[in-house]
Amino acid sequence: MTFLSNLSWRYATKKFDVSRKVSSENLEQILEAIRMTPTSFGLQAYHFYIVTNPEILAKIQSVSWNQPQIGTCSHLIVMCARNDLMQAKDEYFDAMSGGNSEVRTSLAGFEQMVDSFIPRTSPEWAKKQVYIAQGFALAACAELQIDSCPIEGFDPVAVTEILSLPTNHDIAVMIPIGYRDSSENPRSKVRFPKEVLFTRIGE
Ligand SMILES: Cc1cc2nc3c(=O)[nH]c(=O)nc-3n(C[C@H](O)[C@H](O)[C@H](O)COP(=O)(O)O)c2cc1C
Repeated sequence: MTFLSNLSWRYATKKFDVSRKVSSENLEQILEAIRMTPTSFGLQAYHFYIVTNPEILAKIQSVSWNQPQIGTCSHLIVMCARNDLMQAKDEYFDAMSGGNSEVRTSLAGFEQMVDSFIPRTSPEWAKKQVYIAQGFALAACAELQIDSCPIEGFDPVAVTEILSLPTNHDIAVMIPIGYRDSSENPRSKVRFPKEVLFTRIGE
């Protein structure tokens, strides 16, 4: 299965080849994989920024532990959770009903369930959905043999300021993508064996 061999091909790339850019066709495929991410209730309470401007990338690197993957990448995907969940919910039900009030009424039971859930959840809940999207993006990159690195090592307040993000977008994680630099010397993978990770019940 190519997918599995590509998952072992990928690694958290520390430096990209600045002369190589991800094609717009491949970028669209990665964004489509993100778009297809499953989310709780299907709400999709998230938003993604694609940053390519070298000066902005350099500024983001300076507030991200100075990690060179950011300044050298082809594209930086900044993955945000929305904190305006009721608004996100309205947009979702509008999309589902296509603006048809009869369809919207037929969804009332489902909508009430989401309405009662949202006030009882925490902002972390929306961020969890973003991490699922991160997994889809990393897997899509691997399948296309595009290098990537999930990044949590950054100052979210500073990055928010650099990108002038709206107050309803909270950055959860970032992914620089591109092609590994020839100086890269990836460490061999350390993964626990299946006997440690999995307990089979019922065999
Ligand atoms: C949520 C998350 C955040 C991470 N943040 C960083 C980071 O800021 N910088 C970095 O170099 N690697 C980061 N990593 C990469 C991990 O260190 C790496 O995936 C792990 O060591 C396994 O190595 P591999 O991905 O090369 O197989 C992060 C990974 C995840 C999943």
